[in-house]
Amino acid sequence: MSEAAVGYARANGARFVDELKALLRIPSVSTAPEHAGDVRRAAEFVAEGLRRAGMEEVRLIETSTATRQGHPLVYAEWRKLPGRPTVLLYGHYDVQPAEPLEEWTSPPFEPEEREGNLYARGAVDDKGQMWMHVKALESLMQGGGLPVNVRAIVEGEEEVGGEGIAAFVREHGEQLKADCALVSDTEMFAPELPTLCVGLRGMIYTELEVRGAATDLHSGMYGGAAPNPFVALAQMIAKLKTEDGRVQIPGFYDGIEPPTEAELAAWRSLPFDEEAYRAHEVGSPALTGEAGYSVLERTWARPTMDVHGMPGGFIGPGAKTVIPARAVAKISFRLVPGMTAAATFARYKAFVAAIVPPGVTAEARLIHSGEPIVVSTDDAYVRAAQAALAEVFGKETVFVRGGGSIPVVGDFVRELGVPTVMMGFGLPDDNLHAPNEKFCLANFHRGIEAIVRFLAKVGA
Ligand code: BES
Ligand code: MN
Ligand code: MN
Repeated sequence: MSEAAVGYARANGARFVDELKALLRIPSVSTAPEHAGDVRRAAEFVAEGLRRAGMEEVRLIETSTATRQGHPLVYAEWRKLPGRPTVLLYGHYDVQPAEPLEEWTSPPFEPEEREGNLYARGAVDDKGQMWMHVKALESLMQGGGLPVNVRAIVEGEEEVGGEGIAAFVREHGEQLKADCALVSDTEMFAPELPTLCVGLRGMIYTELEVRGAATDLHSGMYGGAAPNPFVALAQMIAKLKTEDGRVQIPGFYDGIEPPTEAELAAWRSLPFDEEAYRAHEVGSPALTGEAGYSVLERTWARPTMDVHGMPGGFIGPGAKTVIPARAVAKISFRLVPGMTAAATFARYKAFVAAIVPPGVTAEARLIHSGEPIVVSTDDAYVRAAQAALAEVFGKETVFVRGGGSIPVVGDFVRELGVPTVMMGFGLPDDNLHAPNEKFCLANFHRGIEAIVRFLAKVGA
C-alpha cells in the first residue's frame, strides 16, 4: 500500500512544491495585528489542502474570546477504519516576522529555489513541514487509502505561545483523542542523518518594564539627577545572569531532572564539531554559557535566559538627547524538565522586585509560556518512525532533544496522554526565525515519504 502512495508522491512532487510556494506567499505573521487577515487566508489555504487531500469534517475553529483576538485552528479528520489506531497530525501555519528584510537574498514572502533549497519565511518552520503531512495524506488516499484513522490539527499561534490551542485542548481534548501524535516541526541533527526529537525546552516569555521620570526629559538639563530607565534595566539584566551563564534567580535550578547517563553518552557519540558550530552556525568569536556542560547539554538540557529586544527611547537615525521616561526589555527563559513555567515566573517576579535600582519602578509581565517535555524513546510508534526513516535514509535514527519549544506538545503528552513522535526534517543551517530561512527540498520529499511509511507501519 505505501509503495503506491510513495509512487504518487514522487510523480507529483513538483506540484507539491508549487502549492507550498503559494502558501509561503501568504505572510501569516501571527504576532503582527496588521497580518491577521493573512493569517486567516493561510488557515483557509490549509483547510482547502486538507479537503482536496480527501479529509473530512474540515473546518476552522475560532480561538478568539471576549478578551483576546486569536487565530483559527484548522481541524480535519478521516476515521473510517474502526479497530485501527488513530494518529493525530500537528503542525502550524503561522510564521515569525521576517525582519530585518534587507538581510534576505530574495524577499521572504516570494519563495525562491536556489541550489536545491526553497527560501522563504516559513519554508521549514513550519509551513513546509506541515505541508508534508497534507501531501502524505493525499498520497496515501490516492495510493489505495489511508492505513490509519487520522485527525489533523494545525494552529496559527504557535509562534506566539499557542494560547488558543492550549484552551482547545483543555476544553475539547476529547476531539483530539488519538493513539499517537506526529509532529514535524523539529530538525535533523545533520544532513542525511534521520533524527527523532525526544525532548523540548519549555519557556516563559516576559516583558520587563521600568519607569522613571513622569515624562521624557532633556538629558543635559536633567542628566545626573533624573533616573534613566534604560540604565536601570541594564543593571537589572546584568544581575539576572552571570558572565559564565548562571541565572542568578534564587531557586531557578531547583528540581531540575538531568538527562540520564545513557542519554548523555548517546549525545557524546553524535557527530558534533563544536568549532564548526561556532564558526558556521553561530558565527561569533566564542561560544558562551555554563561551565561544565557541553554545547548540546547547554542547549537541550539546561535552562537559560535571553533578551530579545529593548523597545523604547530613541532608536531613530542620528542623535536625540533624551532621558526616556520608560524602557522595556523582552526577556525569556528556556525551561527544562523539573521546572515549571508558573514557579519560574513567580521566582523571577520576586527577584525583579528585589533588585530594582533606586529612582525607578519595575514590572514583569508574562506574555506566554509553555512547559518542558521529554517523550518516550521506546514505544511502538517510535519504532515505526525509526523503521520508516531507515527505509527512506538507509541509516539508523539518532535521538536528540530540541532547545526550542512547541508549547502544545506538552499538552498532548500531559493532558491528552497521547504518545508523541517528533519527526522533523529541518537542517541545522535552515535559519529558522532568521533571514534567509530555507527548506532543503530533498528533505521535503523524503519527509513526505517517511510520513507515508510511518502511517502505513502504524496501521499494519
Ligand atoms: N519549530 C520551533 C521549535 C523548535 C525548533 C523545536 C527547532 C526544536 C528545534 C517552533 O516553531 C518555535 O520556534 N517555537 C517557539 C516557541 C514560542 C514562541 C512559544 C520558540 O521555541 O521560540
Ligand atoms: Mn515551528
Ligand atoms: Mn518557530
